[in-house]
Amino acid sequence: MTGDGRRTVLITGSTDGMGRWLALRLAEAGDRVLIHGRHADRAEEVRGAIRQATGEDRAEVLLADLARLSEVDRLADEVAARVDRLDVLVNNAGIGGASPGGRREVDAYGIERRFAVNYLAGYRLTRRLLPLLIASAPSRVVNVASAGQHAIDFADPMLAADYDPTRAYSQSKLAQIMFTFDLAEEVSGTGVTVDALHPATFMDTTMVREVGISPWSTVEEGGTATLRFINAIEPGSGRYFNGLGEARADRQAYDADARRKLRQLTDDLIAGQATARH
Ligand SMILES: NC(=O)c1ccc[n+]([C@@H]2O[C@H](COP(=O)([O-])OP(=O)(O)OC[C@H]3O[C@@H](n4cnc5c(N)ncnc54)[C@H](OP(=O)(O)O)[C@@H]3O)[C@@H](O)[C@H]2O)c1
Repeated sequence: MTGDGRRTVLITGSTDGMGRWLALRLAEAGDRVLIHGRHADRAEEVRGAIRQATGEDRAEVLLADLARLSEVDRLADEVAARVDRLDVLVNNAGIGGASPGGRREVDAYGIERRFAVNYLAGYRLTRRLLPLLIASAPSRVVNVASAGQHAIDFADPMLAADYDPTRAYSQSKLAQIMFTFDLAEEVSGTGVTVDALHPATFMDTTMVREVGISPWSTVEEGGTATLRFINAIEPGSGRYFNGLGEARADRQAYDADARRKLRQLTDDLIAGQATARH
């Protein structure tokens, strides 16, 4: 927090749905908001909405396609170059079970798209921004996961056999929670806290509409639970919340051996790409 009490908050995927809602609420509350999106026009629209709501140009735009690790790295570099502190990182960007069309897509390195966008990008971005978060402590990482969770099959983590987009989404969301538990332990004592949450079930957002499900809850419901978390009204770290209450995640999240395997897999995937890029 700066001397005037303003926090700097980065929200990935703030061009739509709950991320956009959060960006507006945080800016209205006085925070400096770093809007992230993959399309300049969509991100500028949110910036304009913030300008209109607050009468001030207090948001900035950062662009990156989180399906590509090279862009995640560039995003981290841009954040570090642009701000001298980061109080809150909200890993919110995601793709649901039906986008685009629910097909299995892999990148040039064989990484499945839902795993890449929903989990790997947030993992990499958080790790790259950790020095800044530690230097800005007390600071906070909020991982927007989901109650939709599926254990990872380490024999086929990219789901090459029998692809099911809902399973792909659910395993990427469990991976976020496993990362949350590990990272909270790792940064304990630094002043950085890390939690994960399921905001609300079937909010009225693009990813839910794409699946063809009638929404069960509003963006405001999930956004309010997430805001509570961002503002650390109930301090803690290494937790998983379902809405407003602490909850149990899938049991694989509590299996230290499974978390070790996920870390290994993740670091191997990142190292494989880094080698290929050089
Ligand atoms: N909706 C629910 O009921 C629900 C329930 C549980 C958890 N969640 C989680 O809540 C978070 C927000 O979901 P939402 O419902 O608000 O979704 P949404 O309205 O579909 O918004 C998703 C956001 O992620 C961005 N995004 C998607 N792919 C990206 C990529 N490759 N690179 C960069 N940005 C990308 C989108 O950008 P564009 O504007 O360019 O598309 C958009 O800003 C997600 O993590 C989701 O899994 C949602």
